[in-house]
Amino acid sequence: MENNLTSNLMDIKQRIKDLSEKYFEEVKKTRRHLHQNPELSFEEFKTSEYITQILDELKIDYKKGIVKTGIIAKVEGENPGKRVIALRADMDALPIQEQNNVTYKSQVDGVMHACGHDVHSSSLIGSLKILNELKEHFEGTILFIFQPGEERAPGGAKRMLAEGALDDPKPGLIIGQHVMPAMNTGTVGFKEGKYMASSDEIYISLKGKGGHAAMPDQVTDTVLIASQIIVSLQQIVSRNADPTIPTVLSFGKVIANGATNVIPYEVNIEGTFRTMDESWRGKAHLRIREIATGIAESMGAECHVKILNGFPLLKNESEVTRKAAQFAKDFLGEENVLDLDIRMTAEDFAFYSQKFPTTFYRLGIKNKNTNAVRALHTSNFDIEEEALKTGMATMAWLAYSFLDE
Ligand code: NI
Repeated sequence: MENNLTSNLMDIKQRIKDLSEKYFEEVKKTRRHLHQNPELSFEEFKTSEYITQILDELKIDYKKGIVKTGIIAKVEGENPGKRVIALRADMDALPIQEQNNVTYKSQVDGVMHACGHDVHSSSLIGSLKILNELKEHFEGTILFIFQPGEERAPGGAKRMLAEGALDDPKPGLIIGQHVMPAMNTGTVGFKEGKYMASSDEIYISLKGKGGHAAMPDQVTDTVLIASQIIVSLQQIVSRNADPTIPTVLSFGKVIANGATNVIPYEVNIEGTFRTMDESWRGKAHLRIREIATGIAESMGAECHVKILNGFPLLKNESEVTRKAAQFAKDFLGEENVLDLDIRMTAEDFAFYSQKFPTTFYRLGIKNKNTNAVRALHTSNFDIEEEALKTGMATMAWLAYSFLDE
């Protein structure tokens, strides 16, 4: 064993690259199968079954049925208790009708892997195959998390943690990977510290005496009140938020179903609140309630504010992320590892980041020779499949490197 464990890093690096070539066709096939058979959040039954079949063939240990469809597979190296590292992929698809004309187009009407979770899952299977072949060369245990329901509140990550899925063995580090349409294939990107926003849903419902638009003195103008509320709430962003804390408040749905001459008795407003500070997040919720109800009451309407907490802030542990970026540079070359900016989108990986040292990085999927960016959550999202090699190999190399520290 001594010899195996001390086999030098250059050697392992090359072996991981070779193995990612070896498994590329299989992983591509897996990705295409998942792409053709997408399932919505918390309904990933066939996906889960398909993954467990692969694990059975490989004779890999796993727990299944976590939050119904979740799986945690385990590969133990020498001295398995030494350190535990978890690698995570999500499995769910989106309610989108695919418009791509490809042989592996979604076969499910109105459902599509438009956020790359097929890529994350298949690539994680690739990492597992690689690391399983190298298990005599590392000390510790690697967990492979196939997580359901990333796209839907409350988030599969939250529910997996609530079920105690990561209590035993408890990972000392969790690494997640997500596709990034604007980045070239062959690259990955990291961001230390705060990376993605918390995201909450705001529902404001106004009720008042509607009536004839020609008699404003005899009605409660719910539409005007709603307008005042939308405008006034922006002062939370411009006047209440610490200017160094990114904050977004957007309303995308306003329903006032009256007519040119009818003021409705009810108006509903729906929006999203996003920020990067958990304490400010709570205070902002309070301000939203105070301002909305204050304005409504002063203008004679009843106001009900409902705020659904979505995902929290995603924070990449600094030391871990710095190291991961350095490992990735050693593996892919300095020029292929990018520094990322913060994003105001959200991701349920954040729940892991609240409880464990974590890092969540991005995988480039764009064809180098075109400038076409195929955006996430659109009907023509797709990837350059070569990215699967980078995805599976980088994840395997990061896990290996952290265990080798
Ligand atoms: Ni996603």
